[in-house]
Amino acid sequence: MEKAWWKEGVVYQVYPRSFCDSNGVGIGDIRGITSKLGYLRELGIDVIWLSPVYASPNYDNGYDISDYRAIMPEFGTMEDFDDLLAQAHSLGIKILMDLVANHTSMLHPWFVQSRSSADNPYRNYYIWADEPNDWEAVFGGSAWEYDKRTGQYYLHLFTKEQPDLNWENPEVRREIYEMMRWWLAKGIDGFRLDAINMISKPPGFPSGKPVAGTPYTEIWEVAMHGPNIHTYMQEMHREVFAGRDIMTVGEMSKTTPEVAVLYCDPARGELNMVFHFEHVLKTDYENELKWCDPCFSLLKFKRILSEWQTALHGRGWNSLYLNNHDQPRSVSRFGNDGTHREKSAKMLATCLHMMQGTPYIYQGEELGMTNIAFETPEEYNDVETRNAYREYTVNRGVSHADMMRYIHKNSRDNARTPMQWSADTHAGFTTGTPWLGVNPNYTQINAAAQVGDPGSVFNHYKELVRLRKTHPVIVYGDYRLLPEHDPNVFAYIRRYEGESLLVLCNFGAEQQHLDILDVQEWQGAELLITNCADGGSLNELTPYAAHVYLLRG
Ligand code: GLC
Repeated sequence: MEKAWWKEGVVYQVYPRSFCDSNGVGIGDIRGITSKLGYLRELGIDVIWLSPVYASPNYDNGYDISDYRAIMPEFGTMEDFDDLLAQAHSLGIKILMDLVANHTSMLHPWFVQSRSSADNPYRNYYIWADEPNDWEAVFGGSAWEYDKRTGQYYLHLFTKEQPDLNWENPEVRREIYEMMRWWLAKGIDGFRLDAINMISKPPGFPSGKPVAGTPYTEIWEVAMHGPNIHTYMQEMHREVFAGRDIMTVGEMSKTTPEVAVLYCDPARGELNMVFHFEHVLKTDYENELKWCDPCFSLLKFKRILSEWQTALHGRGWNSLYLNNHDQPRSVSRFGNDGTHREKSAKMLATCLHMMQGTPYIYQGEELGMTNIAFETPEEYNDVETRNAYREYTVNRGVSHADMMRYIHKNSRDNARTPMQWSADTHAGFTTGTPWLGVNPNYTQINAAAQVGDPGSVFNHYKELVRLRKTHPVIVYGDYRLLPEHDPNVFAYIRRYEGESLLVLCNFGAEQQHLDILDVQEWQGAELLITNCADGGSLNELTPYAAHVYLLRG
């Protein structure tokens, strides 16, 4: 298997708005990020994935870009960005830009022109039609918006403030590639490509499955991986990526391992890896719908992650994540954020980081930060949450109490509350008023308390990152799931060049006995890492225990 820095490194995602506020306005900014590079260096990560920092009116917190070559004034200036990049590089940390190219903001000059008249040269930069079809937008309502001035509808797969670009237009593609090269010329180290499998729209906009209780149909089966998607990805590779030692990862909902291989098989010249959604959509949501009472199944979780491990081995590369700015906090979701918070956070991290693929840590995950439960819908900022609250309580007969319970579990704002730096006011995130409420548990859960504590979640993550750099089996080894049918234990073996790694994780609050192993074989193995103060055991797993053993030769 070919070696690459992006296979060997660990990525840390920064959601700038919530990371660190340097000027007391209550919103995180670029100088705030720069001021925390020492912290990231201490953790040992190699790459920062920067959620969008481009100019944006923030209908979707930066995922609606109004100028691809400017920095959002709330976040600072281009000089601040250049300084962040230079300082990160001087510490050996790379920067991955989040690029939103399926759509722009409605305030992007291209769209302002496009909507101004039917014969404007930019008209064809977006997708206009005389009649809407029946697609439902990702954040609810019709995916088409009527525009009075020209009497046509434009397509927006997300909010109406995020019109979709027309990738069929070669001019659009040329402009996007040119802008990507412009960022690369600055010295950035790659891209995370937002919603990239949605850029090629199916001709005729065929209807999807009906969405119960609405006049709409789903876009998921019909609008992903459209007919020209691989042509565009290969073109982007030729025009932008080829010949550069950069990292590329595409966000792809509705992607199976077989489809993912088409994007990340190096021979095809498209992307390095993709973010799939299967383990976050199909293991605890009812029918893949997030507004529900979640019911987690470890069996499904193991099956899905294991399929990805084996299907991509030698054919592509996995992205390993449990958290990001769109997902609830993993310790609240898959672990136990009560009495076992620290132990289960370390277990989840161990389980993920020991698999084949590039691990992603989302800010605060390394502290075991938890979900938030705001009392009222108004305290939520996220456009998806707000729209869903309205849609479900007004149109779909869901009670306020039920909807708030679903929101507490699954809202994207669970991930977006400010980073908990210290026990100081507002968790040390800002001296002003934070744009989104701080989780009141910051007095217990914060970086200041954890960095110097060898038993902290932070130091467990730090050790996982360090081990990856010293044991190639963690990066390149193959993968075998052990007891497929155990509903509580996730155990697997990795092997590479004479070394074997045994990973044992208890996902439950009960002690588990394991008799799946040839214990003799592992008797002399070295315990590489554990979350249990009293050491590891090959056949008894205390609640949420995680042990990793290494066998040489
Ligand atoms: C991606 C982003 C999400 C955003 C959406 C629209 O899914 O991760 O935050 O809302 O695209 O850009």
